[in-house]
Amino acid sequence: MEQTNIMEKIISLSKRRGFIFPGSEIYGGLANSWDYGPLGHLLKQNIKKAWWKFFVEERADMVPLDAAIIMNPKVWEASGHLQNFSDSLVECKNCHHRFRADHLLEAVGAEPKYDKEPPRTLSEVACPDCGGKLTEPKQFNLMFKTFLGTTEDSSTVAYLRPETAAGMFVNFKNIQQTTRRRLPFGIAQVGKNFRNEITPGNFIFRTREFEIGEFEYFIHPTGWEKIFEMWLGEIKRWWKEIMQINMDNLVWHELPDGERAHYSKRTVDIEYKYPFGVKELHGIAYRTDFDLSRHEKISGQDLHYADPETGEKFLPHVIEPTFGIDRMLLVSLLEAYHEEEAPTTEAGKTETRVVMKFPKHLAPIQVAVLPLSKKEELASVAKELAQNLRKDFWVDYDETQSIGKRYRRQDEIGTPYCVTVDFDSLNDKKVTVRDRDSMQQERVAMEEIKEYLQAKFK
Ligand code: GAP
Repeated sequence: MEQTNIMEKIISLSKRRGFIFPGSEIYGGLANSWDYGPLGHLLKQNIKKAWWKFFVEERADMVPLDAAIIMNPKVWEASGHLQNFSDSLVECKNCHHRFRADHLLEAVGAEPKYDKEPPRTLSEVACPDCGGKLTEPKQFNLMFKTFLGTTEDSSTVAYLRPETAAGMFVNFKNIQQTTRRRLPFGIAQVGKNFRNEITPGNFIFRTREFEIGEFEYFIHPTGWEKIFEMWLGEIKRWWKEIMQINMDNLVWHELPDGERAHYSKRTVDIEYKYPFGVKELHGIAYRTDFDLSRHEKISGQDLHYADPETGEKFLPHVIEPTFGIDRMLLVSLLEAYHEEEAPTTEAGKTETRVVMKFPKHLAPIQVAVLPLSKKEELASVAKELAQNLRKDFWVDYDETQSIGKRYRRQDEIGTPYCVTVDFDSLNDKKVTVRDRDSMQQERVAMEEIKEYLQAKFK
C-alpha cells in the first residue's frame, strides 16, 4: 500500500467510524487537538489495560501511583524542566510562522543537534511556507504555565506536568516506606501530560496534550547493565506478543555518547517506520541517581535507601522505560489497516474490503450481533443474545442494511467476531459466527456461544 496516503486513510477512517475526531470541531477545531470518540476511547483503554497488566499487574516488583498533574514548581526546578525543557524557535519575518530550528535543519539534511551556537546552515534556511527570512533562534520553554487561585503573580505560578516521572521520584520515600519494598522495585503510572510543542503534527504523533505510561525502576547501581537488558527484553516481548506488530517496523536506536542526556549512561530510543519517516515511538534510559539526587538537593530531604541486609545506605539509581500511549495507538492503527480483495454475494465477483486487523484483545468491539432481518421474531432473540454477551464482551448490535454491508462495517472497525441470528436459529437454536480475518463461518449452539467466544479471546 502506498505509504503517503495511508495516513490520510487512517485519519479519514478514524473520523468516519468514531475513533478520533478533530478537537472542538463545531467551532472550527483547535489546531492539532484531537478527541477520542467511542471506538478510539475503547482502543486506548484496551492498550492501557494491556500495558498495565503486562508491566505492572503481572509483576511482583511493581507498584502503582496516581500523582497530581499540578505539582509544587520546585519539582520542575529539581528535574531541570524550568531551566532546560525548551526548544530552539525561529520565526519567519514575513509570514510569522514559527518553526523548531532542529526540524528545519533536519529538513535540509544538516545535523539537528547543536550545543550553544546555531550552525551556519540555519542562517541559510528560508521559511518553508513563504520563503521569507527567519529570525535568530531563541529558546522557548515547553511547559504550560498557570496560576493557582485568584492572584496572578510569581508566587502563584504553577505548571501542568510535562511528564509523569516526577510524581514517581517525589513519592519514592513515601512509597518505599509504606509498601516496605526492597530494591529493586518500580513505581508506575499512566496519565496526561502537557507540552506547548512548537510544531505539533502528524495526527496524534505530536500533540500538546497526550498520555504517557512509564515507570521508574529503582536499583542498586551494581549490575545495572543486566537489569537494562532485562527491560529491553520485556519491551521486545510487549511489541511482539501483546501489541503483535511487525517487528521489522521497529528500529532500536542506541544513543551514542554525546547524544544522550548528560546523566544517562545508556539510552535506547525505540523508533517506528511511520509513513512520514522513522521517528521516536518510545524509549528506555538508565538515568543513574540524577533525579533523586536533584530532589534531595532542592527539597533538603534525605532520600537515601538503607539496605536491610547489608546495612548499606545509598541513593537508588533508576532505569526508566517510557511509552507514549497516543503513539502506541497510532502504531496500532497503522499496523491494523489492511485493504484486501474479498468475494461479494455475486458469484465470482470480488470487492476491496478495508479490515482493521487489531489483535483480538485490543479490538474496541469484540462481538457484533446481527439479526438477518429486523423482524421482531429475529430481532428479539438477537437483542437478548447481545444483552447476555454484554456481561463478558464489548458488544455492538446492528440490524440495518444488508448482512454483507454490516460485515464490511464491522471489518472496518476491526470486530473479530460477528454473530448472525437467522430464521433457522429459531428452530435449531444455533447462530453463525464469522471470523474477521479468515471470513470463515461456523454454526454454534446459542447456549454454548459465550464459552465458544471466551475460548477465542484466551
Ligand atoms: N520521563 C521521560 C519522558 O517524558 P519523553 O521522551 O520526553 O520522555 C516520553 O516522553 C514519550 O512520550 C515519548 O517517547 C513519546 O512516546 C511520547 N511523547 C512525547 N512528546 C509527545 C507529544 N508531543 N505528543 C505525543 N506523544 C509524545
